[in-house]
Amino acid sequence: MAGRLQGAAASSSPLPRAFLLLAALALFTISFLSLRSLRPAAGPSLDTAADSSVAAAVAKKDRSVLPIQPSSSVYHSPEVFAAGYAEMERSFKVYIYPDGDPKTFYQTPRKLTGKYASEGYFFQNIRESRFRTDDPDQAHLFFVPISAHKMRGKVYHLPLSSAILLLVSTRIKPIIMLLVAGLIELKLNCSYHVQDLFVWALKLLSCVVLALQGTSYENMAVIVKDYVEGLINKYPYWNRTLGADHFFVTCHDVGVRAFEGLPFMVKNSIRVVCSPSYNVDFIPHKDIALPQVLQPFALPEGGNDIENRTTLGFWAGHRNSKIRVILAQVWENDTELAISNNRISRAIGELVYQKQFYRTKFCICPGGSQVNSARITDSIHYGCVPVILSDYYDLPFNDALDWRKFAVILRERDVYQLKSILKSLSHEEFVSLHRSLVQVQKHFVWHSPPVPYDAFHMVMYELWLRHNVIKY
Ligand SMILES: *[C@@H]1O[C@H](CO)[C@@H](O)[C@H](O)[C@H]1NC(C)=O
Ligand SMILES: *[C@@H]1O[C@H](CO)[C@@H](O)[C@H](O)[C@H]1NC(C)=O
Ligand SMILES: *[C@@H]1O[C@H](CO)[C@@H](O)[C@H](O)[C@H]1NC(C)=O
Ligand SMILES: *[C@@H]1O[C@H](CO)[C@@H](O)[C@H](O)[C@H]1NC(C)=O
Repeated sequence: MAGRLQGAAASSSPLPRAFLLLAALALFTISFLSLRSLRPAAGPSLDTAADSSVAAAVAKKDRSVLPIQPSSSVYHSPEVFAAGYAEMERSFKVYIYPDGDPKTFYQTPRKLTGKYASEGYFFQNIRESRFRTDDPDQAHLFFVPISAHKMRGKVYHLPLSSAILLLVSTRIKPIIMLLVAGLIELKLNCSYHVQDLFVWALKLLSCVVLALQGTSYENMAVIVKDYVEGLINKYPYWNRTLGADHFFVTCHDVGVRAFEGLPFMVKNSIRVVCSPSYNVDFIPHKDIALPQVLQPFALPEGGNDIENRTTLGFWAGHRNSKIRVILAQVWENDTELAISNNRISRAIGELVYQKQFYRTKFCICPGGSQVNSARITDSIHYGCVPVILSDYYDLPFNDALDWRKFAVILRERDVYQLKSILKSLSHEEFVSLHRSLVQVQKHFVWHSPPVPYDAFHMVMYELWLRHNVIKY
């Protein structure tokens, strides 16, 4: 793409007419951009969440601190889940828009490892699954297959029109200045030198190169908007419901913001995201919380190993949120809670971090820069009962799964009583939580190809539940 653009810029630069064309394009873009105020990048933080804590506390009423309920099922209603799941397996059809070069960030996952692996797995699994249909008239839902995670990695080939738009929108100031300088030169001095034009073209090229070095958030927003608007104009499906039967999937929070230039998408479409905190406008009945799963796991699943779980509680991580700072401050010297405000590297030789999950009863999962984190699925995998320590969080698959059967769900202000709350749980209660946890492990793992009841099928189930809301 750089080659194409450079070629275009270099070949047109000696022609005065090209200045006028580019200037017109630039002016158009300025007015276009000023209408569309792109929000600066800002990760969701718990601080803003805390500000509205009063309202939320009122809205949520007082939840019982103790999570144990006598019934044994990990599902809210095993019958409803079983019936819905079977129907989903039988009938669910998704149409994947075929547009976009699959060699770039359309259709394909970036990789199936790392923090954002869930996005890659979903893209890969849906593409190869039986849920996919090539007949849009059969489809219950429409998948907009653009991967923000992959886009973030590299710059790929774009159509020239979007390339120019992207370029102008991200390097707007230097380009305008160069254009104005070029126009003044022409107007005042018709006997301009080829040499000057050469210098001018070089400057413009450097702008192009800078703009193409990485796909910034702004670039992504432009690419995503172009893509979705292209689909809206080309196919009749979006307009029927204003996007309510459309969904996109993104694990990286930058992906959530990349779609914000499309208000209908935010308002109407199903957003399957790893950052389901309400301060990024997550809408629980419409959107879907995607679990963040750091695969592959370094060690096998834990389970039926209660005798080895001698540590009461464990957390080690960055203090990158208010709740984490408090957690570390209050409990760092405790002898029963292994709270360390230093991240234990997951990579270090002896797998110290992962092994600690095997030795612990309760793994504390405070919200960080994101409320969601791979720590929750790590805890589930290693058989350590997760203690969700955050307000405003839509737990993955909570339409089907009763999180209180296999996790301890606390509010942030409970951090001061953390130890007494955990100690107040009887051994039987812990055993019950642990047993249930082992039962849900299968729902929080991705496979390729997917297997029944894994994370992919759970996401499909959640999508299936939402397709009933709007039916064309
Ligand atoms: C026009 O360009 C020539 C050569 O670069 C320069 O000598 C002259 O001063 C310029 N005239 C104006 C009005 O800028
Ligand atoms: C959908 O509606 C938009 C806005 O009214 C329109 O521009 C677009 O052409 C429509 N798409 C189709 C396929 O008719
Ligand atoms: C408990 O830990 C010991 C020592 O690490 C190990 O050999 C044993 O298999 C563990 N028990 C269970 C049930 O995992
Ligand atoms: C924990 O121990 C350190 C070092 O002894 C001390 O500086 C710190 O104040 C202690 N923290 C708490 C909460 O007691």
